[in-house]
Amino acid sequence: MDGNGRWALARGLPRVAGHRAGVETVGRVVEAASAAGVGILTLFAFSSDNWRRPREEVQALMRLLADYLQRETGRSVANGVRIETIGRRDRLDAELRAAIERAESATASGTRLRLRIAVDYSGRDAILAAARRVANLSRESLEDALGPPVDLLIRTGGERRLSDFLLWECAYAELIFSRRMWPDFGAEDLLGAVREFRGRDRRFGAVPPTAVRRQEAWLD
Ligand code: IPE
Ligand code: MG
Repeated sequence: MDGNGRWALARGLPRVAGHRAGVETVGRVVEAASAAGVGILTLFAFSSDNWRRPREEVQALMRLLADYLQRETGRSVANGVRIETIGRRDRLDAELRAAIERAESATASGTRLRLRIAVDYSGRDAILAAARRVANLSRESLEDALGPPVDLLIRTGGERRLSDFLLWECAYAELIFSRRMWPDFGAEDLLGAVREFRGRDRRFGAVPPTAVRRQEAWLD
């Protein structure tokens, strides 16, 4: 979810207006993802490095997040959306923590879409924390502690970097970079990205079956 600030500045609005418009996009994208059969959607709402932003902007983002959770819990239950957050909780204020806990427990039985919201999240810190938690460190145990691998990562706002998001989980993620600012991102953009993803050749380091067949024919 990148580009809220630039979207607002381009319209002569304060950055916070961009974040407010960005919340509208979340609603559209959650709906479109669910309709497209996406099982897990993780949104990067606030990175651990975003604490460096001006205090008022940080407060506005936290407020928008708490409001979103309060407002969307009922609809999420009705639509089978299970809400969870990833990231540190200890630096969030008590009100937001309570909103997160309420949303998570109220939507816990949702099975249609798992909506993960990354708040005070750092991929590097998540790896460190997971490594400290697991008893026998292995690829499998770390993967269990971190969460599911990412199939498709979409970054809006024209930047082409991961910015400390799901670093381990993105080992074989397909990356799509959209020039659209997040408030302008729509259902069609999401569906277009999913279509592009489906057309990609994912080999996970192996060779495609056609190449194997060609090789075998040559050996005969
Ligand atoms: C949203 O966009 C990202 C959040 C932290 C919510 P930005 O605030 O990064 O917008 P730009 O990159 O300044 O345009
Ligand atoms: Mg940005």
